[in-house]
Amino acid sequence: MSDSTPTASVLAARGVHFRHDNGHQVLAGVDLDIAAGARIALLGANGAGKSTLFRILAGAWKPTAGAVEHHGAPVAYTRSGRDALRRSVQLVLQEPDDQIFAMSVAADVSYGPVNQGLDPVEVEARVAEALAAAEIADLADRVPHQLSYGQRKRVALAGALAMRPEVLLLDEPTAGLDPAGARQLHRTLDALHSERVAVVLSTHDVNLAYEFADLAAILVDGTLHAGPPAELMTDRDLIARARLELPWAPMVSHALGRPVARPEDLIR
Ligand SMILES: Nc1ncnc2c1ncn2[C@@H]1O[C@H](COP(=O)(O)OP(=O)(O)O)[C@@H](O)[C@H]1O
Ligand SMILES: [Mg+2]
Repeated sequence: MSDSTPTASVLAARGVHFRHDNGHQVLAGVDLDIAAGARIALLGANGAGKSTLFRILAGAWKPTAGAVEHHGAPVAYTRSGRDALRRSVQLVLQEPDDQIFAMSVAADVSYGPVNQGLDPVEVEARVAEALAAAEIADLADRVPHQLSYGQRKRVALAGALAMRPEVLLLDEPTAGLDPAGARQLHRTLDALHSERVAVVLSTHDVNLAYEFADLAAILVDGTLHAGPPAELMTDRDLIARARLELPWAPMVSHALGRPVARPEDLIR
């Protein structure tokens, strides 16, 4: 017997199935454990069901079979059950404009804490903290729709962070960003990691996923394959079935006979 107790899941999918009203089966028995502080990359082709799985994990959609467990207990699909889940699990949608409504960045980021009934002093502290973590403190008084796409994505992220979630679900957070913007976002997320916030992000970018994740979760034909990135993401058959590409870092490391994790490692 191991003397270390396994890390308990904050959030888990247990045999989750999801079928649309038209009969289209998207998820056919998905299992995923999200531990405190985990960094998970959810990979899969367009239409594989990544956004569907996120909506289910966030409690917005109910699985047609199977369950979502929050700290070991099945999620209750009632108003209070969903509210409790929302305080712990925050979903940031791919399109920031689906999530941003207020006339100023600060007002938008304060929406969740205000709705939660926190007092104004606490709300102000949460907003300041979230803007700083998303590195947009200088945008507090700006009108969201006048900001760049990347800045609006950060506003949506700050809105989620203001809830001080245990789990952050980010649907394609780097889609539409330029490579420098994508890399910078990953650095922002790295900083969150030290605070034990679990981050699950979906992406097509196998290279950023390989750098970021300590667990790769690959959706293929309605089922999820989860494991260490170095194993799963170099499995040519699985990667081909998922319509993805092999990340370059393990390939280059193999060719050079030394570890290469980031582009910087190749210089010198
Ligand atoms: N309202 C709907 N009715 C039927 N099928 C849908 C509906 N919404 C999405 N789908 C289908 O569900 C599948 C999964 O979609 P989605 O979760 O958005 O995939 P991903 O985020 O991986 O691109 C796709 O095949 C999509 O066409
Ligand atoms: Mg999607």
